[in-house]
Amino acid sequence: MLSAVKRMTELELSGKRVVIREDLNAPIRDGEITSDKRLRAALRTIQFAVERDARVILLSHLGRPAEGASDGAFSLEPVADRLSQLLTSPVMFVKDWLGGIEVEPGSVTLCENVRFETGEKANDEVLARRMAALCEIFVMDAFATAHRSQASTCGIARYAPVACAGPLLIRELDALSKVLENPARPLVAVIGGAKVSSKLSVLSALAGKVDQLIVGGGIANTLLAATGIDVGRSLIEPGRLDYCKSLLAGKFGAASIPLPTDVVVANGLERDTHGTIKLTRDLTNDDMIFDIGPETAAGYCDYIDRAGTILWNGPMGVFEHPEFVHGTRRMAEAIAAGKAFSVAGGGDTLAAVEQFGVGEAISYISTGGGAFLDFIEGKELPAVAVLKERA
Ligand code: 3PG
Repeated sequence: MLSAVKRMTELELSGKRVVIREDLNAPIRDGEITSDKRLRAALRTIQFAVERDARVILLSHLGRPAEGASDGAFSLEPVADRLSQLLTSPVMFVKDWLGGIEVEPGSVTLCENVRFETGEKANDEVLARRMAALCEIFVMDAFATAHRSQASTCGIARYAPVACAGPLLIRELDALSKVLENPARPLVAVIGGAKVSSKLSVLSALAGKVDQLIVGGGIANTLLAATGIDVGRSLIEPGRLDYCKSLLAGKFGAASIPLPTDVVVANGLERDTHGTIKLTRDLTNDDMIFDIGPETAAGYCDYIDRAGTILWNGPMGVFEHPEFVHGTRRMAEAIAAGKAFSVAGGGDTLAAVEQFGVGEAISYISTGGGAFLDFIEGKELPAVAVLKERA
């Protein structure tokens, strides 16, 4: 399917105005970027274009600002500074760019947050045409935003003279396709996080694809509750209990779904909270689950050790708290130590990968959160679909 798109690396870029849509949506606290992973992931693409003397214009969003006005809290200016450091050459930053900008061959300009422009989210045609008028070649490289049908991801690709895929987008699609199309078995998915509802369709899809579906977080709590276990005051979604019963009954596929047999509970999440390990059958109506227990982690790790391929999205518990870090840490370390081809994606997952220092040992780390989930669910990413049409 990737043969069906034009690639930036095959095009003559010299002297051309090349607009590259990246996902530079990095976490920023007090004006400081707290993780530059997405910036680093985009570097190879930018460097490739610079080395070929392209006039590089970068587009990205940051956060979810209100459209129609600029808001300093969502400005990409700190990103331009960090990119300059990473590229070891200046990255110009422009606030007013939609009317056209001058860019020298071999230099890079980053435009202010595309989400300040009215019509970005609705993929407005007039806005998309104005963006497209900036370039001779449009490069879609923002895998992490490829699930959004917006002016800077889809509309611009429709109206640009040439639209192609960038190397990062291609690397992501290649790695994830490898996992889904012909995975070494057993294929194990590790899915954690707070809510069943935000991962409902991916859980259903994975149940039909993977051999074991390993769950943690609020998702595991709701599944436990669906089996009749009293999970006390733990985070669950009562409206999803029937769905969870169907999932466990195999309605969506034959994946085995081992559930926690022990958990770590507490009364709250204060700094000095102390966690207690309990068997799930001994839970009382005052307990709150914040992590999987050691027996559960050991059982999960056995599946990971035997896996041929692992997909990981979401923590097993509140890993930011020292009392509830162990479940997620053990999974991260088991995935890193195992022989399986492993793919991790999603904001919390990447934070865990960073916290436990296992990044080097994971086979592929995706920049995508929502895009990663949509892709593993088997959905076509709209920004990739446009590139196929244009080719
Ligand atoms: C992400 O962080 O997952 C991407 O940058 C997409 O952001 P969005 O969910 O605000 O569209």
